[in-house]
Amino acid sequence: MNINGKAFRTIWVNPEDPQIIQIIDQRWLPHKLVIEDLKTLEDVTIAIRDMHLRGAPLIGSAAAFGMYIAALEAPEKNPHEYLNNACRELKNTRPTAVNLAYAVDKSWNAIQPINSKTEIEKRALKIALEITEESVQHCQKIGSFGLQLIEEISIKKGGKPVNILTHCNAGWFACVDFGTATAPIYAAHDKGIDVHVWVDETRPRNQGARITAFELLNHGVPHTVIPDNVGGHLMQHEMVDLVIVGSDRTTVTGDVANKIGTYLKALAAFDNQVPFYVALPSSTIDWNLKDGLKEIPIEQRDSEEVKYIQGLDNKEIRQVLLTPKESPATNYAFDVTPARFVTGLITEKGICQASKQGILNLFSSKNDQS
Ligand code: MRU
Repeated sequence: MNINGKAFRTIWVNPEDPQIIQIIDQRWLPHKLVIEDLKTLEDVTIAIRDMHLRGAPLIGSAAAFGMYIAALEAPEKNPHEYLNNACRELKNTRPTAVNLAYAVDKSWNAIQPINSKTEIEKRALKIALEITEESVQHCQKIGSFGLQLIEEISIKKGGKPVNILTHCNAGWFACVDFGTATAPIYAAHDKGIDVHVWVDETRPRNQGARITAFELLNHGVPHTVIPDNVGGHLMQHEMVDLVIVGSDRTTVTGDVANKIGTYLKALAAFDNQVPFYVALPSSTIDWNLKDGLKEIPIEQRDSEEVKYIQGLDNKEIRQVLLTPKESPATNYAFDVTPARFVTGLITEKGICQASKQGILNLFSSKNDQS
């Protein structure tokens, strides 16, 4: 997608030095475009944990590149021990997005049988590039399936703007390109369908206000940033036609973990008969879990992220204290929306019910993920 008219992805191999992975450091968006070099496994683990990059599919891609960098760092003698540790370190960075484990396991399974370090490096890079390309293709397919939903609503409304509410950033910055929740929106906009997006600001890290708004603006999609607690009111007044969010982990039964606050939007949508869709690639499905509430690990982050807020002050990006310094705060990063509140899942294979039957109708087994 474009930033100021220039095409970007969120992660790539440095064309001048293939031992360096480059990312957009998202902590500074929308005010500064900073490209960061990741040269060591530690650089990658810090970038994931401290959210220089974020969003389930991008975390997966970065973890796969982390395995490649670990392969470059590994000793000639017994590289497997080093790489096994790298798997653990990468998996420990952020617990909720299952794309991380999916990518690390895919890389590890591919390199484990190989003995030559040079061959391990080549294979790890190949896997990382494959996961990255797969993410782009899956997002594009999600876009074309989701487009049909928007098109139907647009026809019903006689071409009046389709108002879509989204939470957090499940856009191209959360993936490699196109996004999950945003892919159908971009496809609709590019087809000339009149769309307007309500962008939840998404406290505490404001991924909606900072990142979703930035990418929609760059693509020319009409949008309005709203405080997190406005969605219910808009739905009661028929100002939302459709909700589309992303997912960090979806159980095989259709329960969806996504950014904290998603559940409340699903409840409001349910009460107001607004269709609530979740867009996700199959790499976000956890085939081992059946009960999202009980089984999905929910990341708790530093309470300072709640107590401080970041913004632009006279050309400088600054953090300011929002709460009394002594007040304790808590920072659950995700919540789980039970499948019964989800109208459907938009995947790279089509749209299905948020249920085991629905998911298995599209993906006959967990190996059927292309
Ligand atoms: O904490 P974050 O910013 O990594 O959380 C991101 C989300 O919750 C996204 O909605 C989710 O990863 C889906 S991304 C396509």
